[in-house]
Order: sequence, then C-alpha cells, then structure tokens
Amino acid sequence: MQREHWGSRFGFIMAAAGSAVGLGNIWKFPYLAGSEGGGAFLIIYLAMVATIGFSAMIAEISIGRHAQLDPIGAFRKTAGGGWTLFGVLAILTPFVILSFYSVVGGWTIAYIVKSVQLMAGTVSEAGHADQFGQLVSSPAEPIVYHAIFMGLTMLIVLKGITGGIEQASKVLMPVLFVLLLVLVGRALTLPGAMKGVEFLLAPDFSKVNGSMISAALGQAFFSLSLGMGALITYGSYVNPDANIRSSAGWILSLDTLVAVLAGLIIMPAVFAFGMDPGAGPGLTFITLPAVFEAMPAGAFFQTIFFVMLTIAAITSSISLLNIPVAWLCDEKGMSRSTATIAVGVVTFALGVPSSLAMGVWGDVHFFGMNFFDLLSYLTDTYALPLGGIGSCLVAGWVAYDKMSLEVTNNGSAPFALLTVWKWICRVVAPLAILWIMANMTIWA
Ligand code: PHE
Repeated sequence: MQREHWGSRFGFIMAAAGSAVGLGNIWKFPYLAGSEGGGAFLIIYLAMVATIGFSAMIAEISIGRHAQLDPIGAFRKTAGGGWTLFGVLAILTPFVILSFYSVVGGWTIAYIVKSVQLMAGTVSEAGHADQFGQLVSSPAEPIVYHAIFMGLTMLIVLKGITGGIEQASKVLMPVLFVLLLVLVGRALTLPGAMKGVEFLLAPDFSKVNGSMISAALGQAFFSLSLGMGALITYGSYVNPDANIRSSAGWILSLDTLVAVLAGLIIMPAVFAFGMDPGAGPGLTFITLPAVFEAMPAGAFFQTIFFVMLTIAAITSSISLLNIPVAWLCDEKGMSRSTATIAVGVVTFALGVPSSLAMGVWGDVHFFGMNFFDLLSYLTDTYALPLGGIGSCLVAGWVAYDKMSLEVTNNGSAPFALLTVWKWICRVVAPLAILWIMANMTIWA
C-alpha cells in the first residue's frame, strides 16, 4: 500500500509545530524560567535548541523519511541489529508520556468549563489553590476529563494523517497563535507589566549551574518533541522533495516563539498583580486564575487562555498517540481504527493511577515519588535523552551516508553546515546528553 504523505509543506510544519508546541511551552517553560533564573535560563535554553535540538530534529525527520516507516521499522531499516532497541524505546516512551499528558490535558478542559461558568456568573471565585487541589485530588472528576481529552485525541488520530492530524493542525495552530497574541497584548498593557518582561529577559548569570543546564536540555527535548518516535513518525510522511532543514528550522522557531510568548503572557501578568513568579507547576492553574480574577473581564481572558492551552495540548497528544498506532499499522497489519482504539484505551488506563496519585493514591510512593512524578521523571531523565542519543548516533555514524543524502535531498539541496551537523550528531550531542543525564540523576 502507498504510504500516506502530508498534503502540503505547510500542513507538515503545522502538524510538527503542533506536536512541539504543547503543555511544555505554556505550562512548563514559564515556571522553569521563573524558578531557574529568568533570562539566563532563556539564553542557555536557546543555545541548546539551536545546536543539539536542531541537529537531533534533522536527524529524526531524516530517519523517518528515509525509512517511510514507524520508529521500530525505521531503526531496523536504517541501522538494524541492536539499534532496533531504540525503536522499541521510541514506541514505549510515548505510551507513558501520553498517559500522564492526557491527565493534565484533562485539567485544561476542566478549567475551560470553570472559566465559562465564571463568565456566566454561575460560580464564584474562591481560594484558587483549594479549587485546583480539589479538582486534581478528587477521585472521579479528573478521570472523566482525562477520558474526554483522550477521546478527542483518538477522534483526530482515527481520521488518519492528512484527513485527521494535518487538517486539525492546519486549523488549530493558527487559532492558537491568534489567541496567544490577544493574551500577549492584554498582559503587556497591564500596569507594571515591564517588571515581568525584565524578569523573563534580563539574564542573571550567577544562577547558571549544572542543574539549570540539565533542566534546559531536558526541557528542549521535551518541548521540541525529540527523543522518541514523534518526529521520526511524522518524518515518515514527509515528501521526498521537501527540504528537511528548513522545515526543522520553522518547527523549532515556532516552538521557541510560543514558549517566549507564553512567558510574556504569564510573567507580566504575575508581576502586575504582585504574585510569585517562582510558584512552580501551580503557576498556570493557581496563580494565573488569581491574576485573571483581579483583571477587568478576567473570566473572558481566562477562557481564552485555557482554550489555547487545550489546543496546544491536543495537537501534541495526537502526535504521541500516532506513534504506537503507526507501528501497529505498519508492522502488525492492523487497521488504523483498531490500532487507535486499542492504544487509546490502554493509555487511558495507564493514566488512571497518575490521576489518582494526586489524591487518594498520593501516599503510594516509588523511589520517593508518586506515580505521576515517577513517570514524568523516568521519561524526562532517561527515556528522552537516551532516545535522542540513539537518533544522533544512527544519523551521525551508523547510517551517515544514507542520512547525508536524505538531509541534502540526494545532493540537490546542499547544506553548508553538513559537517557541523555530522559532528554534533556524532560527538557533541551524545556526550552533552550523557553528561546531563548523569547530572540529572545526581541532582534529582
Ligand atoms: N512537545 C510537547 C510539549 O511541549 C510534548 C511532546 C513530547 C509531544 C514528545 C510529543 C512528543 O508539550
């Protein structure tokens, strides 16, 4: 059967940028930047994205396009032997990430509902930390929202690559940008906003240390959707004549732009109302609602914010679900609908203990962490960096000849930085990632 390809270059870039732009940009980036030294973190993060991130992204898309297969098939075809294990990892990791990602995606939907009720005046604001705590710790409500989020993800993936994923991304991503700009406009015109801008952009290099650098690389991998099969799989639908480097450049720039814009919404708003920018994961769900409450027409802007966050999360979750689905279709001969339903249901079930870990199972600890934190820690610290090393080594050493042809479209699109890319894949990225993994283990 002929493999399905993206309908247009714009469609591919929107889908891949949709995968990259997600909770990582809007929920995680601002609180990380907030707690890791503002502008200094931003500079280190940008450096990681432009070097290791860019190289690994080109490597992953090239591996996928070359193989025209799911990640296991792709590693088998491009490298073979033990390298195929990286493909197995690239299929397992998205299962795990999607399971807890969908739980947080569920919270974002719950907050849309809350914000609309607020606008309609049917509920009143009350202790934001309590409200958030009540939502996530209750046994049933977040699981229902987790099911709704997973159901929406499955609906899009069921419809296939061009008809489902590409179509949804082409509509949702531009909407996301418009909503984002509305919110940036609102945040930057608040009195006192500039203090927040300064906090986000002014570098304080005394904050630079090993744990901050590892956090920056971990965030770069997560945010760019690297280190697992997401971009290998999306790469497998890329047309043979498409320029991989310029697409990667677009994806990476859009992802970074959204992270910075999200920071430019959250930090000015937080500073304008005298809140704590280092509030951690609660920044989005606790601090921001308090900020919106203090703002004129706050319920309206809050609704816009959570709609935007849900869109960002869904265009990422579809790329995650699509990875194991592609494997079942490519290698096990399953139909897309059976595969989508099977993977969706299993992943939903795996997410249930993550949701319960916020409440009734909060005391069940593994290595000192609850189930949710454990999965997030294992994937961030080990699975994604390892996956990234695998793609870089395959593209830089094992299959370099084939991959250099892929990156240059058989020589018709010469790449001035080919040698630089090769050595980043061969040596710089693997060593940097190993060093950082070792550090993360120590500092965790
Ligand atoms: N990049 C997404 C985010 O920033 C998360 C993600 C990781 C999605 C890996 C797909 C694959 O939220």
